[in-house]
Amino acid sequence: MKFGHFDDDAREYVITTPRTPLPWINYLGSEAFFSLVSHTAGGYSFYKDAKLRRITRYRYNNVPADSNGRYYYIKEGSTIWNPGWQPTQTELDFYECRHGLGYSIITGKKNGLAARLELFVPVGDNCEIDRLVLTNESDVPKSFTVFSYVEFCLWNAVDDSTNFQRNFSTGEVEVEGSTIYHKTEYRERRDHYALFTVNTPIDGFDTSRDAFLGAWRSNANPEVVENGRCTNSVAHGWAPVGVHQVNVTLQPGESRSLIFVLGYIENPEDEKWAAPGVINKTRAQAMAARYATDAQVDAALARLHAHWNNLLSTYAVRSSDEKLDRMVNIWNQYQCMVTFNMSRSASYYESGTGRGMGFRDSCQDLLGFVHLIPARARERILDIAATQFPDGSAYHQYQPLTKKGNMDIGSGFNDDPLWLIAAVYAYLGETGDYSILDEPVDFDNDHSLAQPLLEHLRRSFGYLRTHKGPHGLPLIGRADWNDCLNLNCFSDTPGESFQTTGPSEGPVAESVFIAGMYVKYGNEFAEILDSTAHTDEAAAVRAEVAEMEHTVLTAGWDGSWFRRAYDAYGHVVGGQECEEGQIFIEPQGMCVMAGIGVNTGEAVTALQSVKDKLDTKYGIVLLQPAYTKYHLELGEISSYPPGYKENAGIFCHNNPWVSCAETVVGHGDRAFEIYKKTCPAYIEDISEIHRTEPYVYSQMVAGCDAATFGEAKNSWLTGTAAWTFVDVSQYILGIQPTLAG
Ligand code: GLC
Ligand code: GLC
Repeated sequence: MKFGHFDDDAREYVITTPRTPLPWINYLGSEAFFSLVSHTAGGYSFYKDAKLRRITRYRYNNVPADSNGRYYYIKEGSTIWNPGWQPTQTELDFYECRHGLGYSIITGKKNGLAARLELFVPVGDNCEIDRLVLTNESDVPKSFTVFSYVEFCLWNAVDDSTNFQRNFSTGEVEVEGSTIYHKTEYRERRDHYALFTVNTPIDGFDTSRDAFLGAWRSNANPEVVENGRCTNSVAHGWAPVGVHQVNVTLQPGESRSLIFVLGYIENPEDEKWAAPGVINKTRAQAMAARYATDAQVDAALARLHAHWNNLLSTYAVRSSDEKLDRMVNIWNQYQCMVTFNMSRSASYYESGTGRGMGFRDSCQDLLGFVHLIPARARERILDIAATQFPDGSAYHQYQPLTKKGNMDIGSGFNDDPLWLIAAVYAYLGETGDYSILDEPVDFDNDHSLAQPLLEHLRRSFGYLRTHKGPHGLPLIGRADWNDCLNLNCFSDTPGESFQTTGPSEGPVAESVFIAGMYVKYGNEFAEILDSTAHTDEAAAVRAEVAEMEHTVLTAGWDGSWFRRAYDAYGHVVGGQECEEGQIFIEPQGMCVMAGIGVNTGEAVTALQSVKDKLDTKYGIVLLQPAYTKYHLELGEISSYPPGYKENAGIFCHNNPWVSCAETVVGHGDRAFEIYKKTCPAYIEDISEIHRTEPYVYSQMVAGCDAATFGEAKNSWLTGTAAWTFVDVSQYILGIQPTLAG
């Protein structure tokens, strides 16, 4: 079943009913001001950091779902409705949401009145524009009232949802003309405020949520809207909101547009105040003036379209398969850009308050956007490398605001260093900009330790070269790519973090997956060394790689597939002798991509085993048989119910590895078959099973062991976007950037 359709000419997905299985969202903004917007106008906005500068309030995991957004209520007579259906859920005569590249258009019609809401963040500005165009499609004059509604967040999203004993007393606003200013904490340590304005004189306002909603009500039935008139409330503490009232009369056929601007303003310390207690509004007024007319908004939209045309002109395909074309040319690249902007911070599954940027995640994301914005890829590589430790290991995460490594989680994820080589190789292949290798880059953000980037790569490789276990395979540390395979953790206490419990480095547990990476990215490192006239060193790296290849084909080979690991007791993980978890997907994909066993037959055998044992109609599951018991020696992987997440879910990120691997052994058709199984456009027809957005990838689809086989979760922010783009563009379509061109 479908809940909409693709409009490829417009590069939009068109949702035709508000009753989708889950909120289907889009992202607005590409630089500093960002908004999440669902197909019913839910979501929130933030400036740069979704935790520390949250502008509007959102309630995750709330009921009803997707509560809070920028809502526009229309009251005509006794009928109250929203163009996006939520939150009143009044039945509409027509509903449509078009999610496009950096904008969304939501249209609702009721009783001959059409309301078209266009939402976008202009390129180069710190605001969201909501243009509401009202058209009288009936043959009689219409008079009605529009109420806008946003709820402000008191900036720090965690504090905002926890520290009520303080927050209920701090909220402050100002209202001047048609503009509502949210200025909580501006009086003391903040230099920023938010504004919500409309380009017309207003007939009333409210800034107190309690006044607007009324006692014991919700945003589904605000008292003010029911009464048809604002109370001009001024919030003192509690929950500040922004509500405008605009009375409208339209003749038959007549239209009127209302342009709302939700903005973020920073003032220098000595320009904070216009008068004692009165904020300096100069910049806010200038912002409002930039979007006061339809012509200005149209021009800003044109700039946004030009921005995306430019980005998407770098790589395009024209084939006989419209689904392939739409994914390659539009949606997959779009998701890669969103992942670049957001990392894993803010989605409908990532609360924007948790982890910062992942070292390995960011390096892999880069593979999907380096061709789109090479200059920012360069900057990103240098930022990431600067968090590396002098011994070549890496902080697992770092904070985007400070760009410093995150001490809470620390280091010890032994695949991390090698992903840096992957990112740099991809950058060099795309740009040929070898100057990046000479760029001095800090270690652990300490300038006194700075070394050329090439030295960082050397230490990345060196770290794995010097951290091998009993079989000569790389030590796994806390985990490798699979964050849930925690072989040194041994956690038996509820709530303990699997990621940080136990020693960060055990002397025994080894990873065959990292061994595959060592070969693949070791070879890439050797190529980089050759290209920079370090020929002897390149030969030494290749000798290391050859030795590892041999080790993988002996200690890492199980007879019909590659083993996954050795645990802290030296027992095999992912072998026929295991009771559960006999075969894993990751080493099959990575080892074959690295070329291991391609000439000697093991590669083809391993991929056949994947097909026989792991493949399902919705994609390839991570392992089989699923773990049904908690294995202390394996960690988080066995904590998930069978078929979910890393415990035999279809973890979409590693499906493209197998698809890439199939092309390495010449099985192009099989590669494309794998590609299609998880590819959104090809599974649009089962949206009622899949449930997440049919235009982007999700992190995970429930595997065959799960009761909800085929159901996706965690859409948008996943390494799947980058890897499927690498798969389709480089391996399936075959355009491979190499150091030679
Ligand atoms: C808060 C604190 C309390 C303190 C009071 C006055 O209620 O919990 O410890 O005495 O504020 O500052
Ligand atoms: C999540 C993490 C990623 C990890 C993957 C598999 O997507 O962000 O770093 O590789 O899970 O565990």
